[in-house]
Amino acid sequence: MKFTISDLPFEKIAATTLVVPLFTDETDPNRERLDKVTKGKFGRLWAQEVDRDVVGQIFRYTDLPGLAASRLLVVSLGERGKFTAQKWAKAAQAVATALANGPIGSAAHLLASVDLPQMPLAQRLRLLTYWFRQAQYRYDATLGENSAKAKSPKGADRVEHLIPEAATDALYRAVAEGDAIAEGALLTRQLGDLPANVCTPEYLAETAENLAKAHDLKCHVLDKKEAEKLGMGAFLAVAAGAKRPPKLIVLEYRGSGVKKAERKPIALVGKGITFDTGGICLKPAAQMDEMKYDMCGAATVLGTMKAIALMALPLDVVAVIPATENMPGGSATRPGDVVTTLSGKTVEILNTDAEGRLILCDALTYVQQRYQPSKVVDIATLTGAILIALGKVATGLMGNDDTLLAELKAAGDEAFDRAWPLPLWDDYQELLKSRFADIPNISSGRDAGSITAAAFLSRFIEPGTPWAHLDIAGTAWLSGEQKGATGRPVPLLTHWLLKEAERAHAAHAETDQPAD
Ligand code: BES
Ligand code: MN
Ligand code: ZN
Repeated sequence: MKFTISDLPFEKIAATTLVVPLFTDETDPNRERLDKVTKGKFGRLWAQEVDRDVVGQIFRYTDLPGLAASRLLVVSLGERGKFTAQKWAKAAQAVATALANGPIGSAAHLLASVDLPQMPLAQRLRLLTYWFRQAQYRYDATLGENSAKAKSPKGADRVEHLIPEAATDALYRAVAEGDAIAEGALLTRQLGDLPANVCTPEYLAETAENLAKAHDLKCHVLDKKEAEKLGMGAFLAVAAGAKRPPKLIVLEYRGSGVKKAERKPIALVGKGITFDTGGICLKPAAQMDEMKYDMCGAATVLGTMKAIALMALPLDVVAVIPATENMPGGSATRPGDVVTTLSGKTVEILNTDAEGRLILCDALTYVQQRYQPSKVVDIATLTGAILIALGKVATGLMGNDDTLLAELKAAGDEAFDRAWPLPLWDDYQELLKSRFADIPNISSGRDAGSITAAAFLSRFIEPGTPWAHLDIAGTAWLSGEQKGATGRPVPLLTHWLLKEAERAHAAHAETDQPAD
């Protein structure tokens, strides 16, 4: 799908499909204009529609006089008095779906021109571009050659964003950013949806290596022997039951132009359990297939790295992905086993199904020791409990630094990829006590499961290092009929990194000022 921007009047656009969003009050100027150019025909048809007030409802018309476009698609914005940015997003996503499943050809739309004073035009174009491309995602990697689904068309292939003013470089850049973020999230979704017999730790490592080749990143993959030599006892304890070899994937994006010795990159750490059986503490069979999605933290990190490389952000970012299966077997870790982590702390593994925190603690120590990161964000499908707390709507957000948490939350709001904070007070640390090691990998009860998981991780963060944890067990994929990876939280992270780049630029400009 290719994008352009235009400020021509909509009736002059000779697209296959013209999309006009309408408020259902009588006052919408686009409604009046449609009436006028179609000599009253549109108004007569519109007056008969039911469900006009349902936000995101779509109405299709063909052969209207006075319009250069062949088809008109109207999307309801509901009543103007009740309008919100959330409703705008809902209507836009409904249009994206309709265009991706509708006729091939070109489309032009007025969604960026909707009256939404709180959202800059550039941000609207960034989001719309992202949503239009996401709607075209089709999983077909493992469908049979003759599958009709594998050949299903993707609808419109050219989209014109119609805006009320002349296009500028900044607006074109926003479209390119939306496109880059979409590229990243499409990779994230593909990796998530691939089955665990295809998307193995080695496959994730190859994906990282291919990204490095394509985008001039630096990639380094540590194998089991190297992890043993370093002393990553927690990571290796999870890998112990698996026949497939574990990989610790390190991917560096260097965009700031700062010399290596002075670099303090942002670190992204992604949970890469390519399949979580629970290990010896075996999970029940129902929906266990969904544990192929237990590497969505890793997939998010890879998608985010791809997006920021495509955007050429002036930042340094290092990604670390501990990747392994969590399998039972004769060599698997047993409940009660005690292991020594890379940090030197010992962990009593009371539940082999609480494996995410075990691979993450060593990855967190590794990245802090090697890179002295300015900030650390980990992304993990860490707890079923986050689904109980927040459902599939919001990502769980915890950490040790109020500024970082506020920035991530704001980025999620801006990207319509929302996260919500849970407390990580010291009171929760008391739930993690072991008689046989420095720390157990689970608390004794079921209380506050998502928080105790984050509390475990916090023990591996150096004092003074801002750190945030995103629990995406609810948001990374959908279940049931819509089963599939969502690409979340790539929009949240990329919007945060776009802002980080702006902040770094502003700080730089300040220090460059001649002193007076
Ligand atoms: N990958 C799971 C978390 C998960 C469960 C995600 C269900 C999505 C749906 C994680 O490794 C896990 O098994 N966590 C346990 C922790 C418990 C043993 C303390 C959980 O949430 O049940
Ligand atoms: Mn588990
Ligand atoms: Zn898991």
